[in-house]
Amino acid sequence: MKAEKPYPKEVYLNGSWLKPEKAQISVFDRGFMLGDGIYEVSPFYKGKDFKLKEHLQRLQYCLDEISLDFDAFSLEEVIYEAIERAKLSTEDCAVYMQVTRGVAPRTHYYPEDARPTVLLYAYPVKLEGFEEKSWKVSVTKDLRWHRCDIKSISLLANIRANEEAISNGFNENLLIRNGWFTEGSHSSIFFVKQGTLFTHPEGHNILSGITRQVVLDLARDLDLKVKEERVHLDELVEVEEVFLTGTTTQIMKVDSITYKDKKVFTAKKDEITRKLQEVFVKETRGE
Ligand code: PDD
Repeated sequence: MKAEKPYPKEVYLNGSWLKPEKAQISVFDRGFMLGDGIYEVSPFYKGKDFKLKEHLQRLQYCLDEISLDFDAFSLEEVIYEAIERAKLSTEDCAVYMQVTRGVAPRTHYYPEDARPTVLLYAYPVKLEGFEEKSWKVSVTKDLRWHRCDIKSISLLANIRANEEAISNGFNENLLIRNGWFTEGSHSSIFFVKQGTLFTHPEGHNILSGITRQVVLDLARDLDLKVKEERVHLDELVEVEEVFLTGTTTQIMKVDSITYKDKKVFTAKKDEITRKLQEVFVKETRGE
């Protein structure tokens, strides 16, 4: 079953606060026409930011990588205003933000004088209770481009992979390049193999997940053995635990992995996942 998602009550678009149905952009906006833009999703626990600086730094990195001249940190005030206006100041929520290169006649090169289009809104998210859930996931080829470190709004390969998973009764889809796991359609992947935590190294093939970094830091604090190395499909026989991380996914235990209609992994343990979930809750909620 596909979850129904409501629209936010209000969005920020280029300096104005509007009802979603009143917020309009040009058909020549390069985000609409070419997918020429960057986005970010940042979590707020009971209205309090978690790693907002890191999210804005990643947004700035991505904007710089595509030479989109915009100061990501200029959004900070608008972010808090969005949360306040949505009456989420004491609720678990997230803020979606998107910057496109703006409106200009369609060209493959960057126009010289377009002004960035900025869209931002806060929305409630259920962040509690993720430890009680677990996911069944599928695997498909990673069909994305070669700069997955850039959080581009062009998500065609990601949504195609996720749609395939959801419509077949899975919760998420894991992506493989030449048999090597990169990440999920909207999450980072961790494996526990012979007691050691593995995750794909940073670089052009994955998004540098903020939650991924939090989990790596927590794992090192717990003196777990950690290797930022990729894992191959064929190695799943040696894997005891798998979990996924992400801003709203947090740390999600994986029960099973199915590839080409065959179950290729069933969780054997969950000790390390549980330990990390426990410290993650403390970290995010400051308890
Ligand atoms: N997705 N990998 C991909 C491809 C992602 O889209 C995401 C996040 C992550 C996890 O990154 P982080 O821990 O920084 O959220 C990894 C966001 C939330 C989204 O598209 O909605």
